Amino acid sequence: MKFFVDTADIQEIRELAAVGVLDGVTTNPSHVARTGRPIHDVIAEICQAVEGPVSAEVTATNFDEMIAKGERLAGIAANVAIKVPSTWDGFKACRTLSQHGRKVNVTLCFSANQALLAAKTGATYISPFIGRLDDIGLDGMEVIREVRTIYDNDKSFKTEILASSIRTPLHVKRAAMAGADIATVPQAVLRNLARHPLTDKGLEAFLADWNKTGQRIL
Ligand code: E4P
Repeated sequence: MKFFVDTADIQEIRELAAVGVLDGVTTNPSHVARTGRPIHDVIAEICQAVEGPVSAEVTATNFDEMIAKGERLAGIAANVAIKVPSTWDGFKACRTLSQHGRKVNVTLCFSANQALLAAKTGATYISPFIGRLDDIGLDGMEVIREVRTIYDNDKSFKTEILASSIRTPLHVKRAAMAGADIATVPQAVLRNLARHPLTDKGLEAFLADWNKTGQRIL
């Protein structure tokens, strides 16, 4: 499974890219708003920092605006993926932008049927929001499992499942087990994937024993 980081914070992105675990980045209007900077500058900077796809969202509700804004965003760098919402206009825009050779990430997906429409309109990525479904008492992971089955049943579908709205390391593990192609993860959750109390305890004991020997690795 590939890892994207879900942020527009360039410092976080650079630090994770240096570790070598980053396959791409997803931003959304809320992330960009938090930077306090113009979206074109933010996306251009991120696109230079990572080789993989960088999702940037159109902030439009009608087809014409989605196409116009999507093309503007795509013009920033070759690795931009245009985010459109899972709405009727969004699916229509997905079809047009995909036919123009653009990478399209259909976002705000909360059902298997929305994912089906995304695949049929040529989306590069579909982003089911796990955490937000869990928030209202539904099972976000169930949507990932359903979409995996639907996509596997039609070999003509090329859309990748981008598990989104991930809140915990358990979400990451379960999304990987359910067959998601990618998880987009907040940086704090990504870092927590490396943590285990037995690793910390074992390391502490090894170092204590080693220090008693007085040896050094030269
Ligand atoms: C994905 O592209 C979204 O930006 C993101 O995963 C939303 O996550 P949230 O529900 O934690 O805001």
